[in-house]
This record gives sequence, structure tokens and C-alpha cells, in this order.
Amino acid sequence: MESILKGKHIVLGITGGIAAYKSVTLLRLLIKAGAEVQVVITPSGKEFITPVTLAALSGKPVVSEFFTANTGEWHSHVDLGLWADLMVIAPATASTIGKMANGIADNMLVTTYLSAKEHVMIAPAMDLDMMAHPSTTRNLATLASYGVEIIEPAAGELASHLVGKGRMEEPEKIFERIESYFSRQCDMQGKRVAITAGPTFEKLDPVRFIGNYSTGKMGFALAEECAERGAEVTLICGPVSLEISHPNIRRINVESAREMLEASKEPFSKADIGIFSAAVADYRPEMRADSKIKREGVDDMTLHLVKNPDIAATLAADKRVDQKFVGFALETDHEHENAVKKLTKKNLDMVVLNSLNDKGAGFGTDTNKITIIRRDGTETTFPLKSKREVARDIIDGLIR
Ligand code: C5P
Repeated sequence: MESILKGKHIVLGITGGIAAYKSVTLLRLLIKAGAEVQVVITPSGKEFITPVTLAALSGKPVVSEFFTANTGEWHSHVDLGLWADLMVIAPATASTIGKMANGIADNMLVTTYLSAKEHVMIAPAMDLDMMAHPSTTRNLATLASYGVEIIEPAAGELASHLVGKGRMEEPEKIFERIESYFSRQCDMQGKRVAITAGPTFEKLDPVRFIGNYSTGKMGFALAEECAERGAEVTLICGPVSLEISHPNIRRINVESAREMLEASKEPFSKADIGIFSAAVADYRPEMRADSKIKREGVDDMTLHLVKNPDIAATLAADKRVDQKFVGFALETDHEHENAVKKLTKKNLDMVVLNSLNDKGAGFGTDTNKITIIRRDGTETTFPLKSKREVARDIIDGLIR
């Protein structure tokens, strides 16, 4: 069978770590699968592996400097970024990770990364103390929030003879991740997805509202993931300060729960996949004042609230057999039990449970820790990951 990598353009970035020798195997695997590979190596990478080997295996001169010293030939990082379908940096040292996270473009590889429009994967490799240093952790989290896919290093014996986490993932495993990326690329082609995201604001008067802390990050990450996999996405979002721009994403801005329901009806009826990630206000003030409520002469006040429609339950009630709908459950107690109840009560196919008891999960964070609970009773718990990676797990769970 023809490899999915045939004819794909891959920039393979190599930095200065002992694991650079393993990149030769990765390069061989890519070439054997029919990919075109352009190696970009950092100056210190060349201390570990010779460009001659890499050029011979890839069939292309290795790029390292901004220009060739004797001829003045300019190597354009912008052109490389446009040429590539994927950029993989393996090994990625602490130094390169730090530069990438902070925009320090002092070599050809980091400059290429900064101009890259395509997906980027990195396979970190370093000593265990460097790996565990807070700056590495922070830089990796920053890169993950930019959408960089991090191929976690394995634990084992390191070049320093210390044993711990920091060893670059094996080339075969990195190769599998690359294959999986390209097969994900088109696995939602022709599918329609509708997503609700963010909070809803329920007006009290022209300047005040009842709202919640949702930032919309999880819903936006889901929209991006689906769009990049080829789906046509309609994102119906409450008031959020996030930007999104992808030709496959149509964004509809709403404010209240009732507006969200109205705007969602058509996109959800046409969707193959519907995702309810919005934190919808359960209640709204019964009365909305037309002018600002004054405090003069008023010592206390009672707000009478009335129930908002349940968007998920309303739209999923008419769900067709060819549609799959997913809801979220954010709970503070009896979380599992409540999430399971939601599945049947709201006629959903899957509930994504994230607990406020988990550090790094829930509102406003860039990370999330989820358990997927399916209609057939099976469930999967994932470790703490960036919201983009969580989005990938949710979509994989839905369509694979
Ligand atoms: O019932 P609960 O609010 O815990 O359920 C959460 C799920 O239901 C989420 O998927 C949320 O987007 C959806 N929901 C909704 N409309 C509401 C309340 C919740 O779509 N009014």
C-alpha cells in the first residue's frame, strides 16, 4: 500500500543534542515512505552529526546558514515555510525550545519555525534536570498553546548515564506520529460540525449582566482541530475575547442563551457532529431594565430569575441516527455520576467530563484533563494536556 507520506514536503529540523544521531534513522524512514525532506540544522547540530550524511540521505543540500558564505546564495526561511506540509524538529534541545517559545530568531531553524504556516511537531531531548526545570516546562506549555505538537520524551537511561525523563522518543514512534498527522489531515473532509462555545451573558440592564468565567478556549480549540482536519465548522460563541481565522470556520457571535439557541438551530440540524462546549447560563433575570438600575434609595434588591432553555437537550432531542452530539460536564461534586446522567437525559453520544477539582483543568486555563464517557458505557481518562491536544483526543474518539 502506498504510504500517506508519499510526495509530502517535510522540513526536518535537527538541533545540537546527542539524540541527533537518531534523526538519521527518522530521515531514512521518511525518505523510504516517499516524502521529500529538507533538513535544516542548527550550528550546534552540526557538532553532533555531519551535514554530508544528511544531504546524501535526503538528496538535498542541508540548510544551516541564512546564506552560503562563498556564493552569497540566500536561503529563504519564508519559502521553506511555504514549501513544507509539516515541520518536525527532532531532537529539540532546551535551548531551541526556549528560542521558539520566545521568538529568538538567531538561526535559520528558529526563523523557519517563526515563518512556518504548517503544523509543527517537536521531539524534546535533554538531560532529566533540564527537562524538569520550570523554564522548560513553561516553554513547552507556551509552544503547546501555539498549537505545536509535542512528542513527549521517554524515560530511560540518558547520555549522562542518569536515568529519567528526557530521552528523545524513538524514530519509529516519531515516524508513526507523522503518519498519524497526515491521516488526520483529511479524515473530516466533507463533514459538517457545529460547536457552541464560551459563556452567555444575561442582561440585567444596559450595563450589567449575569455571566460566568468561561473563556471559550476549549470550544475554539475544537473548532480549529476540526477545520484543520477538513471539516466545515460553524462556531456559535458567546462573548469571548478570542480570535479565530480559518477558511473552514464560520463564526456566529451571540450574547444570551436564547440567542445562542436560535443561532444554533440551523447549523446543528445540518451537522454530522455537534459539540456543546458553551457554558450556558442556566437562568436569566425575568425582567430586564431598559435604563441603568440606580442604587439611590434602594437598600436591597431581589432578582427573580427564570430558567433558560437547555440548548443541548433541545437540539439533541431531534438528533438523527447519522448525527453524533457531544456535551461537556464541569462538575464540583458527584462528577462521574452526574456526567453519566447527562448522557441519557440530554440524548448525547458522548460526554466530556472535566473536573474543577483537577489542577489545570476547567475555566481559563490553557490545559485540561478529561474523561470521555460514551453511550455504550465505556470511558477513557486522559492525562493533563493542552486544550488543542484534548480537542484532538475528543475528535479521534468520535470519528475513529
Ligand atoms: O446540565 P449541565 O449544564 O451541567 O450540562 C452541560 C452541558 O449542557 C454542556 O455541554 C453545555 O454546553 C450544555 N448546556 C446547554 N444549554 C444549557 C445548559 C447546558 O447547551 N442551558
